[in-house]
Amino acid sequence: MGMSTQNAASALLSPARLADIDLPNRLVIAPMTRNRAEPSGAASELMARYYAQRASAGLIIAEASTPSAVGRTYPGIAALYEDEHTRGWRRVNRCVGAAGGRMFAQIQHGGRVGHPDTSGLIPLAPSPIALPEPIHTPNGRRPAVRPRQMGQGDIDATIADFAAAARRAVAAGFAGVEVHAANGYLLHQFLAPNTNRRTDVHGGTPAARMRLVLEVVDAVIAQIGPDRVGVRISPGNTTNGIIESARDVEDLYPELISRLDERGPVYLHVAFADPDSGLWKRIRASWSRTLIGNPVLPVEGIPEDGGRVAGERMLEAGADLVALGRPFLANPDLVERIRIGAPVNAVREKYLMYVGGATGYTDYPTLAG
Ligand SMILES: Cc1cc2nc3c(=O)[nH]c(=O)nc-3n(C[C@H](O)[C@H](O)[C@H](O)COP(=O)(O)O)c2cc1C
Repeated sequence: MGMSTQNAASALLSPARLADIDLPNRLVIAPMTRNRAEPSGAASELMARYYAQRASAGLIIAEASTPSAVGRTYPGIAALYEDEHTRGWRRVNRCVGAAGGRMFAQIQHGGRVGHPDTSGLIPLAPSPIALPEPIHTPNGRRPAVRPRQMGQGDIDATIADFAAAARRAVAAGFAGVEVHAANGYLLHQFLAPNTNRRTDVHGGTPAARMRLVLEVVDAVIAQIGPDRVGVRISPGNTTNGIIESARDVEDLYPELISRLDERGPVYLHVAFADPDSGLWKRIRASWSRTLIGNPVLPVEGIPEDGGRVAGERMLEAGADLVALGRPFLANPDLVERIRIGAPVNAVREKYLMYVGGATGYTDYPTLAG
């Protein structure tokens, strides 16, 4: 018998603190792109409704927002580089705040995960190597294009764009920002040897490959302070054509984590974390502040307990907070369902991504109806 039974109060529901922010529970909504922003990238009214429905989570990490036009990944993606983007997110934060919640923004530059049909621009990447799979565009799924290799000027501009997006996020009422260095987007493309073939200061050794992540984190911290900055990583995750061998992970991530720890961001967020792995134990041992674990749930569907047992295991293995994605997507009141052990809604039709609209988005029922 495990430590958790349906009747005992779940450790996931105990309060926590993130710097000076009180969290009513340890459940975090993992960032999830849902492609419902306005064509400009401004957060829509529908998005405000979606997030406000989920305000009982301890913390919401908003879906990825692009810090520049060229960083745009998919249609309907949110943005944070123009005044109307700030205004759109401000409305979301007002609605979530009124409902009792708090949010971090996630800043994501797509790198080679982008397409001229979507952004009007040739994507930028550490090296001119195309994503080896088609990508969703306004014209359907299209073969990826060969990205342009970033020069030092592009790198400087990207660092500045992350910093400016962080400033906008705070102006928009976010409690902080998460720098997205996971899941095969630009910063992860710099970390991984198969996407970064550079021979300058940003490529080659692990120290050179992690340099851009550290530069971005430094620039963002300089803008808004370490207590408002989190970082997301996904060591070894193969999303978006990333290849990191066990050796690559070993050579880079422990070093990256200690270098990040020295800089003092308020949290580290590990996507697709395995709490029983040696890597997780090393991460916990070398990270001194809040650690968020996003456990691996079955791809085919969320468990009947909404991720409760997997989440409690993460806490037992040293996580401070637990991020869940699809369980919150399908259950606005997941916290309450976990509290009383109620059954959860399953996720419907491929999350109804790319299609826009309320169906499969704001129409998941709560226990109250
Ligand atoms: C619809 C959808 C959109 C996602 N978008 C993002 C995103 O914008 N940024 C990100 O870091 N991860 C994104 N992810 C990954 C999730 O944050 C999470 O790591 C993943 O879904 C695994 O957690 P789960 O099994 O609880 O859903 C997305 C996942 C889904 C299902």
